Amino acid sequence: MSQTSESVLPVILAAGLGTRMKSRKPKVLHELCGRPMLAYVLDAARGVSGRRPLVVYSPATAAVAEAFAEGADLAIQAETLGTADAVRAALAVTPEEVCEILVLSGDVPLVGSDLLAELIDMRRARNAAVALVAVHAIEPGGLGRVVRTEDGGQVLRIVESKDATPDELEIEEINAGVYVFDAAWLRSRIGDVKPSPVTGEFYLPELVALARADRRPVVSLEVDDDGTLVGINDRAQLAAAELELRMAINERHMLAGVTMIDPIRTYVDVTVELGQDVVLEPGVVLRGSTRIGEGTRIGAGSQIIDTVIGRDCTILASVLESSKVEDEVQIGPFSHLRARSSIGRKVRVGNFAEVKASRLDAGVQQHHFSYIGDAELGERTNVGAGTITCNYDGVRKHKTKIGKHVFLGSDTMLIAPIELGDEARTGAGSVVTRDVPAGMLALGVPARLRKPRVEVTPAASESVKPSAAEAAERTPR
Ligand code: UD1
Ligand code: CA
Repeated sequence: MSQTSESVLPVILAAGLGTRMKSRKPKVLHELCGRPMLAYVLDAARGVSGRRPLVVYSPATAAVAEAFAEGADLAIQAETLGTADAVRAALAVTPEEVCEILVLSGDVPLVGSDLLAELIDMRRARNAAVALVAVHAIEPGGLGRVVRTEDGGQVLRIVESKDATPDELEIEEINAGVYVFDAAWLRSRIGDVKPSPVTGEFYLPELVALARADRRPVVSLEVDDDGTLVGINDRAQLAAAELELRMAINERHMLAGVTMIDPIRTYVDVTVELGQDVVLEPGVVLRGSTRIGEGTRIGAGSQIIDTVIGRDCTILASVLESSKVEDEVQIGPFSHLRARSSIGRKVRVGNFAEVKASRLDAGVQQHHFSYIGDAELGERTNVGAGTITCNYDGVRKHKTKIGKHVFLGSDTMLIAPIELGDEARTGAGSVVTRDVPAGMLALGVPARLRKPRVEVTPAASESVKPSAAEAAERTPR
């Protein structure tokens, strides 16, 4: 691969709304494995050029400018009159010292830096006016056809499918929409592109015919269709590209020591990090900034978004969002961690439990049908079945603070704001409206405080669960 170069300016065309997507959203903002298409193109460009890429957008794709203003320069194309007109808009803001222009399409997201480096070298070697990527496509569809001399040696021109004769449509070599131009030559000729008599658009590939007319070399880098260079125009092609990328991501993780029971049905965003011996069952969806530690198993159908999970955890059929989970935790089946939940070591959450914006310290047990929101729970506290932090009074959210080794009987309602001290207890069905000091028992509706008949001894408080007999008496486990 050649050195990244300051002389090459990457220009990325992203002014077309992409009508074939049938979407309100600009095409290049549609995502592939969790990142917008355009982000991939920008990465590829950065791999070969030290210059900030220049993105061409239009009033219809203003959202593109907003999303990418930080990492790229912008040029506006007032009206989307075609790809040549888009490049003209780019040249209007291109500094004089730029001697090569790399043109990429925002809708060809899987193009790799290695290929671009090769294309740049190829243009330089022949001092060509244009170097382009030509793909031997299995399904040329609506793409531009590469028309060559009889002997097949020289590229004569590119013909768009809408403008092509039936014979030309038979050609199976297509234009990838990726080019390197001699910048000075491009500046001198961009104004000479005539609109297509069929569509009225100014086609960038017309520059190929103009270079031939000027007797300047046109070179082509010929590649086979591996699914990475066929542009995305509609949602079927979006899904096909996503499949291609997903398989590559999954293979990378499997080769690094991750087990996937069914990789075709495992959906891992490109941004996700996985430790060794992670096991992903079918239908798992891992999104965004999710990171999963060694030896953790993610059960079928789980969805994990922007969440960091420690080592040796088991997550079964659950949804975890924007949360943190420490080591050896068990969650699920059918539990939900909502944003800003923090789960300590060896905690158990689930079946059918919900946690929101709460901290559960090490060893907390929250088993059945319960809701913990805006709360802090101390070490080894036990949350009985059906327990709810009543954190919302209809206007505001309130906090619940629960100490260590607390035992909450089944169906306890904790009316926040409220605090329960260490080793406090509540009876089944209690509605707790006032703070419970350490070691006290709250019973009834509304709950009254009393000293527990049996003092909680240090030995008793050390067991994470009450004895089997106690458990049977007080709470369905
Ligand atoms: C284009 C090529 C075609 C090639 C194909 C590869 C032209 C005329 N045709 O066709 O030869 O086989 O890509 O994928 O270039 N854009 C603008 N401004 C415009 C029009 C388009 O910025 O006025 C942008 C689009 O947002 C898109 C890119 O240019 O990112 C390509 O445009 P698109 O309309 O998708 O061209 P294709 O028909 O796919
Ligand atoms: Ca396209």
